[in-house]
Amino acid sequence: MVKFTTTLVKSTDTKFAKRIRKLFFTSLCVLIALALNNPLFANTASNTDLEILLPAPLEATDFLPFSEQSAQVGQLLFYDPLLSGNRNIACATCHHPDHGTSDSLSLGIGEGGDGLGLTRSPGTGTLAATRRIQRNAPALFNLGFAETHTLFHDGRLSIDLNDPTGFNSPVVEFLPKGLNNIIAAQAVFPLISTVEMAGNVNENEVAGAQNTRSDYGWRIITERLRNNSEYLRAFHTAFEDIQQPTDLDIRHIANALADFINAEWRTLNSPFDAFLAGDSTALTQAEKKGLHLFYGEAQCSTCHSGKLQTDQQFYSIGLPQLGPGRTRQFDFKARDMGRINESDNAEDAYRFRTPSLRNVTLTAPYGHNGAYKDLRGIIKHHLNPKQALQNWQSDNLQLPKFQQAEATDFVIQQDQQELNRLYQSIDITNQNLSEKQIDYLVAFLTSLTDQSSLPGRLGIPETVPSGLAVPR
Ligand code: HEC
Ligand code: HEC
Repeated sequence: MVKFTTTLVKSTDTKFAKRIRKLFFTSLCVLIALALNNPLFANTASNTDLEILLPAPLEATDFLPFSEQSAQVGQLLFYDPLLSGNRNIACATCHHPDHGTSDSLSLGIGEGGDGLGLTRSPGTGTLAATRRIQRNAPALFNLGFAETHTLFHDGRLSIDLNDPTGFNSPVVEFLPKGLNNIIAAQAVFPLISTVEMAGNVNENEVAGAQNTRSDYGWRIITERLRNNSEYLRAFHTAFEDIQQPTDLDIRHIANALADFINAEWRTLNSPFDAFLAGDSTALTQAEKKGLHLFYGEAQCSTCHSGKLQTDQQFYSIGLPQLGPGRTRQFDFKARDMGRINESDNAEDAYRFRTPSLRNVTLTAPYGHNGAYKDLRGIIKHHLNPKQALQNWQSDNLQLPKFQQAEATDFVIQQDQQELNRLYQSIDITNQNLSEKQIDYLVAFLTSLTDQSSLPGRLGIPETVPSGLAVPR
């Protein structure tokens, strides 16, 4: 007789225990149903115990607390180009709700560019963008999830309680103290990135100052906000310790942005969560089959685990390299070796953080450099990375036209030594899945989407205090 075991993540509260029991029965029924009408599934289950590890549903209590008034200031800051050196780009330009809180591009165009999403261009005139952004802009869903300890594709920002700033970050001791959480710590970086928001030295005072020392750049941005009476009023209302303009500093700006992001985009209403909470009708047959592949035979959950389908660890799945790369000091190849940049550990070459798969149907293109514009492409890549690399074509991308960049976009792919290194790095074992099974996986990933989360909670403001144009 086939025996099914359902193991669930451990938890201490009793409400949760009830849910476990409920889920146990739901899953058991689903498993039996699947075993009966899916011959393939029955085959795998016939000689081994099948263990399905399902997370608990995502809930509001899984998130960090936030202050409503601070989130409201954060909303204005997030959409305001005033925070950029040349006042021409906002966080929302690359993380826009109309584009799944990203930009719909494999590699975007930052400071100096013009337009949004697929129509974004390098812009014109002396301030036009001169290179592509090195990596794909990640979506910002569920960033307030309390267990998140690592951000960026290479994890170069992480919580570190032994560090006086509370974080391990690229600017080490210059990171402001008093940042409430990891989202706040992240939010200060785009502001001083020349290619993202600061602009080039000689173009504006932020870029010049940050070039001397990161915190000098933050001071100039803070000064801009101190000179805006509408921001001052909003900050004064939101933060008790702001009584006069000089009390405002970069921490408040970062903490407000963090409260906004945390509260704004949460995926609490996906069919998958409804299913986990006990509604066995929440998933279609195909989605259920995909779920069992994902958490079973296809072993996706060895890395895509937990409530957000990420273990927050780093692996190489050998995506094709493209674009300007994110080169290390003294490295002249246009390549991106990922985690090794942060860890200096040889085995971390080409490893990138396992991304969350929540709302993944809304966040194409996929991978740290957006190498695949559709889910089938990136899933198939996982099944045989080396072969996928050899067959990969640039029509998998969604790259904005950028004449100046095009000559070097794919140069690295011609470098045989580099390709060999990439092959060597692959951490994933090949497997055979049928087209039908891939359909099921896509169906399952679709069930991780919460359509209602997309517009955000506060939404896009009509206007921002600087009077500059809100990206739309
Ligand atoms: C020019 C485009 C661009 C702009 C503008 C921009 N970002 Fe990003 N953002 C990116 C890219 C690209 C990454 C990934 C970088 C990496 O991992 O190396 C990223 C990463 C992030 C992350 C980390 C997400 C994760 O899962 O690791 C957060 C949070 C974030 N950005 C918030 C912001 C905020 C807040 C602002 C405004 C202050 C902002 N971004 C402005 C492109 C942009
Ligand atoms: C060995 C760990 C591992 C396994 C197993 C694994 N993945 Fe991944 N997955 C990753 C990593 C790491 C990335 C990001 C790679 C990068 O950016 O270079 C990724 C990226 C993805 C993405 C793109 C998400 C995005 O937003 O860019 C999808 C979709 C995905 N995986 C689905 C799956 C599915 C489905 C399976 C099972 C067939 C699977 N993964 C198995 C580690 C894994």
